[in-house]
Parts: sequence; C-alpha cells; structure tokens
Amino acid sequence: MRVGVLVSGRGSNLRALIDACAAADFPAEIALVLSNKPDAAALEHAASAGLPTAVVDHRDFPGDKQRFEEAMDEALRGAGVQLVCLAGFMRLLSPWFVDAWHDRMINIHPSLLPSFKGLDTHKRAIEAGVRFHGCTVHYVRLEMDEGPIVAQAAVPVLPDDDADSLAGRVLEAEHRLYPLAIRLIGEGRTRIRDGRVLVDGPLPAPPPVTNPAC
Ligand code: GRF
Repeated sequence: MRVGVLVSGRGSNLRALIDACAAADFPAEIALVLSNKPDAAALEHAASAGLPTAVVDHRDFPGDKQRFEEAMDEALRGAGVQLVCLAGFMRLLSPWFVDAWHDRMINIHPSLLPSFKGLDTHKRAIEAGVRFHGCTVHYVRLEMDEGPIVAQAAVPVLPDDDADSLAGRVLEAEHRLYPLAIRLIGEGRTRIRDGRVLVDGPLPAPPPVTNPAC
C-alpha cells in the first residue's frame, strides 16, 4: 500500500512510520511526504530516510484554499498514493478534498475520541480529571476529529502529570498506534460499516486496566 504522509512540523509520527516500514513484513511503503511548511523538521527526517518529499506551501496560494488543496491532491495522485496519513498536519481540509479521499485518509489525534477534540488535549484532560487519556487513529470525515475509529491507545493520567509529561506518554503510544493502524489497513483487514471499523482476523483482547491500579 502506497502511503502519503501529510506533515506540518516535528514529524515524530513520521519517524515511527519510517521505522515501521523498514520491517520486511510491513504492508505499506511511504510514497510521498508532503508538507505545507518548507521548514518542517519532518521533511529532514524524510530526506535522511531517502523518501520522496514535496512542499505545497499554503502561503503560495493566498485566499485560494482550493488551489492549495488541488496542488496537494495532484502531488498525492502523482505519487500513486493509496492512503493519506495526516501526521501533525495543521491545516483544516475542505469538504471536496475530504470527499476525494473518502475512506482513504486517516488521522492521528492525541486524545481518546470522542473526548477532547481540537487543540490542547493534554491540558484539558488533566483539567477534566480523567484517569485515562490517549490517542486515536480514525478515518477523516467532514467534521474535525470525527470519523470511524481504527485504533486507540490509552495511557494513565498520573497524579504529578502536567500537560508536557502527559503529552510525552501519549506520544510514545502514538508511535506504536499509527503503525499498527496502517498495518491493519494495509493487510486489508479493516472494513467500515455503519460508521464503525470492523477488523478481520484474530485480535487478542487487551486486559482491563484500572487507574489507580488495584
Ligand atoms: C501528534 O501529537 C498528533 O497526534 C497530532 O499532532 C502531533 C504531531 O506530532 N495530530 P509529530 O509531528 O508527529 O511529532
């Protein structure tokens, strides 16, 4: 499966995907890393891994989001991309683009959706007093941070956590979760039915956990 990774910044999830793709049995390869920011650190990670990169800078299309997204669409299609993975891509996508990649575009979000959509998820989780937080990989739909959920990882919120320590714990989980979700899709094991993702094949049920532990 040819994957296009859309980035805007740090690129730690991209690095996790690059590492995952190195395994001989991983069913996906990165066909293009596409950034809307020419100075994104993610582009350097891609280049050092020898991956094809492209920059479509939204500032080159002032007041014309359609043209900006058409340029991205062209780059992705030109690279033969079959699945678009948003990995810290910080532009909201228009309905036509989301429709064009319907069921072929996924995102990773740093919360257990549907809780804490949007920004500052770690700070909001601490303020809400939840005992578990985490991350979600989901298909992209018109509404931000909505769409059929492929996989989630939960991490405990610990008494001394601040937003940074919690973000670090979630990020480690993201780096395991995104490759897992892409593996399931690449192996053709996911089907979307009635807004839910069904996964074929044997999947061990994780044990229940409590926080505080008992
Ligand atoms: C991650 O926390 C991801 O969940 C969110 O943006 C962040 C991107 O981080 N969508 P990185 O660029 O992959 O390091």
